[in-house]
Amino acid sequence: MKLIIENDAGTAATAAAQLIAEEIGTHDTPVLGLATGRTMEGIYARLAQAHEQGTLDFSCVTSFNLDEYVGLSAEDPRSYHYYMQDHLFRFVNIDLHRTHLPDGAATDLDAECAAYEAQIARSGGIDLQLLGIGDTGHIGFNEPPSSFDTRTRCVELDEATREQNAAMFGGDPNAVPHEALTMGVGTILDARRLLLVATGPAKAGIVAKALEGPITPEVSASAIRLHKNYVIILDEASAAELSP
Ligand code: F6R
Repeated sequence: MKLIIENDAGTAATAAAQLIAEEIGTHDTPVLGLATGRTMEGIYARLAQAHEQGTLDFSCVTSFNLDEYVGLSAEDPRSYHYYMQDHLFRFVNIDLHRTHLPDGAATDLDAECAAYEAQIARSGGIDLQLLGIGDTGHIGFNEPPSSFDTRTRCVELDEATREQNAAMFGGDPNAVPHEALTMGVGTILDARRLLLVATGPAKAGIVAKALEGPITPEVSASAIRLHKNYVIILDEASAAELSP
């Protein structure tokens, strides 16, 4: 395990982007697991900037995102499909055919989840999985309790998560979809390397629980401590409740 504590959210994003860029450079055909959310925005901006400056090539990158809301189409500005276009894909030379997100608008959600798992396996598995952490301790949308062997599936979102993500839905938690498709904790643990990034004072309590509390399905993010190759990047604010 490697724990990096940066001064602020900006330097944490820079460190995360550097690590992702190095990972891309290490493989002929890198497979990245991607996340969405506010924490990732600064990271994607830095990756896009590196591409613009000519130092980062996405042409051989394959990507799999963690999750998507049920019922939102790829064109919906509140969907994670849209988020990825808006924050990363349109700025870099990634082949869109190699980008994958679960389809929350699929008619058969179970079949969609099984197909997603099969696609990850066919690609040879994920080299580096990027993760944020939610207020409930979720990684992906694995709300507590999520057993550590869960695979891609349809889950019900916690009220706390709908509140956390309400800003994109006019500030109304009830307007946030009640269900999502997410990689399971087991799917995430199968990645060859994990990178969890958290920033800001609101994350301090849950970060301390995940990194120093019991390893338990009640805090999905605690599962990453079972992985043999993981990196945590925090800023000082989100690290504030870790023991000295
Ligand atoms: C999003 C995802 C979530 C977020 C988490 C933190 O694809 O998988 O686990 O990473 O909810 O979100 P932010 O960064 O908005 O605090």
